[in-house]
Amino acid sequence: MDRITIKDIASRAGVSVTTVSLVLNGKEHRIAQETKKKIIHIANELDYRPNQLAIGLITKRTNTIGLILPDISNSFFGELAKGAERKAAENNFNIILCNTNDTPVKDYEYLNVLLDRGVDGIILVPSGRGRDDTIPKCFTLLEQCQKPFVLADRIKVGDKYSGVTLDQEEGGYIATDYLINNGHRKIGCVTGPLGMLNAYLRYQGYRKAIETAGIVHRPKWVREGSYHIEDGVELSKELFQEGVSAIFACNDMMAYGVYQSAVRSGIKVPDQLSIVGFDDIIFSQFSEVPLTTIHQPAYQMGETAVEKLLALIMNKEEKNEKIIFKPELIIRSSVKDVTSER
Ligand code: RIB
Repeated sequence: MDRITIKDIASRAGVSVTTVSLVLNGKEHRIAQETKKKIIHIANELDYRPNQLAIGLITKRTNTIGLILPDISNSFFGELAKGAERKAAENNFNIILCNTNDTPVKDYEYLNVLLDRGVDGIILVPSGRGRDDTIPKCFTLLEQCQKPFVLADRIKVGDKYSGVTLDQEEGGYIATDYLINNGHRKIGCVTGPLGMLNAYLRYQGYRKAIETAGIVHRPKWVREGSYHIEDGVELSKELFQEGVSAIFACNDMMAYGVYQSAVRSGIKVPDQLSIVGFDDIIFSQFSEVPLTTIHQPAYQMGETAVEKLLALIMNKEEKNEKIIFKPELIIRSSVKDVTSER
């Protein structure tokens, strides 16, 4: 069935298209009350929905936001998207969600798709390993078209864009310090992609906690992953060989991989290996050994990113503001206190 247009309403009401347009746009001051009521009744009866693109051509606004995420199979991003969607809907905005599969070139492609569709603003979580030169190309494009945008989660705190993220280094420090306070000294770390600032900062937090405790850092206890579960599976095997008693995995997906690898190797968690993750995604509380991890308020980050973007769209706010959330340690049962065994 074709979409209902104002021509259909005009024909059914026996009035001109102009009259219908004036009534539906609230400019009906010189139109008889009876006619107004008839037009509105017919529009509701036919379930008329204004053509947003047509409206956008006039108002230069489509009430649509683009949201570009790297991996919607990771529920961290699902939660962020839910928060963003809720805040957008609260303000009568819709969201177009793009998933880049952590492929930087897709960031650039989707930015162009969203700009072509006339979105009013964009929220970008940059993908990939952070080393790719596509990311700067994305920023250049956004600056050139002067489209309001907000970076979320993976941002360079020193860069000149509005952004919403977590204090990543503090999160890495808290995670590692918790293992140290439970008597662990040979602590492995499976990092995210170190070309990405949030991964690098979590690793810096790990290093800071190790050195603050007077533990000699051993590069052999560190492996660089890319935030995917298979990194945890494969890279932890090498760390087991290095005799670590605990592993800080820089996101929960990799922590699940570490756990699976330990089980396959006959290593008991937490009796023989302690694990701490990062994100606190929904499955971590329900894992066979509920995961101790660092909580990221992903839902709230999504809401806040939309709030920031709407303020930019409405020209109410200065750009370049960073909103940085505090990490929270969530203690469950994947860490054993080995203090008495030392
Ligand atoms: O789990 C995916 C990771 O990538 C999260 O830690 C989040 O911070 C994102 O950057």
